[in-house]
Amino acid sequence: MGFHWSIRTALAAGLGALCLASPALAADPPTRAALVLHADHPGPVIERNIYGQFAEHLGRGIYEGVWVGPDSKIPNTRGYRNDVLAALKEIRVPVIRWPGGCFADEYHWRDGIGPRDQRPVRINTLWGGVEETDAFGTHEYFDLAELLGAQTYVTVNVGTGSPEEAVHWIEYITTETHSTLGDLRRKNGREKPYQLNYVGVGNESWGCGGEMRPEHYADVFRQYAAFLRPVPGQGKFTKVAVGPNVADYAWTEGVMSGAARWIDAISLHYYTVPTGVWPHKGPATGFDEDLWIKTMSQTLRMDELITKHAAIMDKYDPQKRVALFVDEWGTWYDVEKGTNPGFLYQENTLRDALVAALNLNIFHRHADRVKMANIAQMVNVLQAMILTDKERMLLTPTYHVYDMYKVFQGATEIPLDVDAPAYAYGGVSVPSVSASAGRDPQGVTHIALVNLDPRHPAAITVKLEGLSASKVGGQLLTAPDMDARNRFDAPDVVKPGPFAGATLARDTVNLTLPAKSVVVLDLR
Ligand code: AHR
Repeated sequence: MGFHWSIRTALAAGLGALCLASPALAADPPTRAALVLHADHPGPVIERNIYGQFAEHLGRGIYEGVWVGPDSKIPNTRGYRNDVLAALKEIRVPVIRWPGGCFADEYHWRDGIGPRDQRPVRINTLWGGVEETDAFGTHEYFDLAELLGAQTYVTVNVGTGSPEEAVHWIEYITTETHSTLGDLRRKNGREKPYQLNYVGVGNESWGCGGEMRPEHYADVFRQYAAFLRPVPGQGKFTKVAVGPNVADYAWTEGVMSGAARWIDAISLHYYTVPTGVWPHKGPATGFDEDLWIKTMSQTLRMDELITKHAAIMDKYDPQKRVALFVDEWGTWYDVEKGTNPGFLYQENTLRDALVAALNLNIFHRHADRVKMANIAQMVNVLQAMILTDKERMLLTPTYHVYDMYKVFQGATEIPLDVDAPAYAYGGVSVPSVSASAGRDPQGVTHIALVNLDPRHPAAITVKLEGLSASKVGGQLLTAPDMDARNRFDAPDVVKPGPFAGATLARDTVNLTLPAKSVVVLDLR
């Protein structure tokens, strides 16, 4: 049981050559896929934190994107944009990782406390060489999390910091006592301790975070872990080790073998770069089908990466005590022309919506190990939920997937077999359909479906095992063009609508997924 896909021959599908993608096809006949839902074999809980966000001091991600300051003309609540707050509440952001990213290993928390007009101005040497005013610091971050009802995930500075600096930060954030640091927090306006849920020990220590070797990092982690203790009276926080970059299995091996006992979770970073070549990643818009399918193919690599890293983790942690956090993922394109290359600003299209849905389906299916994932990044950076332009804001196609998929937060995963033909183009081949399923705490079963083929609809049957449903409804996200996007002057080009195309016949759901679309079905 479990997820698999197979290329059915055109003959077996009764479709002749129609299953083979060909630009010459005019009538766009559907491909056919058969799914089996095993509701009688429920899997693990899909942690809400799989829908986590990442907000770094990078470009306009925090400044302008979230924080405009209390004196701004842009309507705000104590400095946070009201429009962005409302949009983020709607998708029920469960956790936000902050302050980086690479920035975290150059960040000194004392810069970001106290009266804002007295905070030091630094240079953000990593991201654009711009002035970092430190207006957004510890209090601003934790207050944002409280406003959104989100958990907190702070990355402490290992690269240019020290265990002492990290320990003092945690005391400042969490102590109830009248220690000097506790009283400093009070003086700065916060009586009660803040809730600290996750502590990342550095970021990308194999690269921007210190160019370390895994054996060295394992020792550094152990050293930090020895001192990063919850302060008395405060709940335990989860200690997150820096994990591998993409397929660096030696890193996972080195860190797990050297420090598994001390680690609560280990991270994985993997970005979808359409061409697979960093200097020429490919554009965010105006791409052709060749880049479309390459983007899908690169995205689907996530499944293999999680499987292989998890297999290494199994060696050192067969009980699966240590979680895998995919705490940076998403599309990374060539930066938009005319913008600061260090700001990583990119447009977001229907293609990004499919990338998000594919990754979320993968995370659902690995819910036994993957307990958190943080898309990079929340606003105005890389694969963002939201883009802003001064007082204007738009919701990206990626945002809409998060909105459609929020029903999976805290659901119980249900295994699905997927038997779908391949979608092939230009020598690249991927399964044409991706799917995952879950049952929410109210007992409603949800099935997420993605048709990766940009030209052919997919006629789908879902056989329901162990589930009798009497009603099926859903939501659909698609658009006429592969690179359809929302613009500030046309913000609703890509947005979900009701999907009435599914029918129930006894134990089978029948539907046709439009080409290049995402559908979430609800079965009651
Ligand atoms: O998300 C942008 C950057 O990508 C992060 O700062 C870093 O961790 C990663 O390399």
